[in-house]
Amino acid sequence: MKNVIPASNLTVRPKAPKKEELELKFSDKAMKELSALLKHYPNKKAAILPTLWLAQREYGGTLSADAMAEVAFHLDRSYAEIEGVATFYSLYNTKHAVGKHLIEVCTCLTCQVCDGFNILKYLCAKLDIKPGETTSDGLFTVHPVECLNACDRAPVLQVGDEYLGPVDTLFIDELIRKLKETPDSTVVKYADEVVQVHLRDVEKA
Ligand code: FES
Repeated sequence: MKNVIPASNLTVRPKAPKKEELELKFSDKAMKELSALLKHYPNKKAAILPTLWLAQREYGGTLSADAMAEVAFHLDRSYAEIEGVATFYSLYNTKHAVGKHLIEVCTCLTCQVCDGFNILKYLCAKLDIKPGETTSDGLFTVHPVECLNACDRAPVLQVGDEYLGPVDTLFIDELIRKLKETPDSTVVKYADEVVQVHLRDVEKA
């Protein structure tokens, strides 16, 4: 059997940790950012989305059950409510732990007619994984996604906050080479960038 980290079984949700087992992991920096964010919103419930981004950064790119429980704790909400919000949006990585770099491949209509499926196939073959899986070294996860709203650049990929396109197989080879040499996780970096955008809005208000 191939040595990869499989895509999750979507029918199984991670279990919330018991209250007494909850280990809070937000750093001092994150706690300061959280209190700045909270000043910007009328109540804690309204701050769920940016706090989830904060948690995604603090927990290394994935919103595990522990991460969602910590968000619930800081915002005085139930775990079910936080999980319900987090799992609604595909930008939060709740289904399974993603690799250091998440490559999202658009396979929606425009990208599809511009070779999007072949790009997905080539990328997966190159990394020796199936869509949704993570390479055994934890470096790459590949997800097919719906329209990235950059159809004029089809076929398009998203890595972190970057839209890349139009891409071809040579571009993919070069992208993988570059990402292997990238020291920081593009998934964590992206989460941090979203947090910083929220904080800039807070400062401006
Ligand atoms: S169809 Fe791929 S970006 Fe719109």
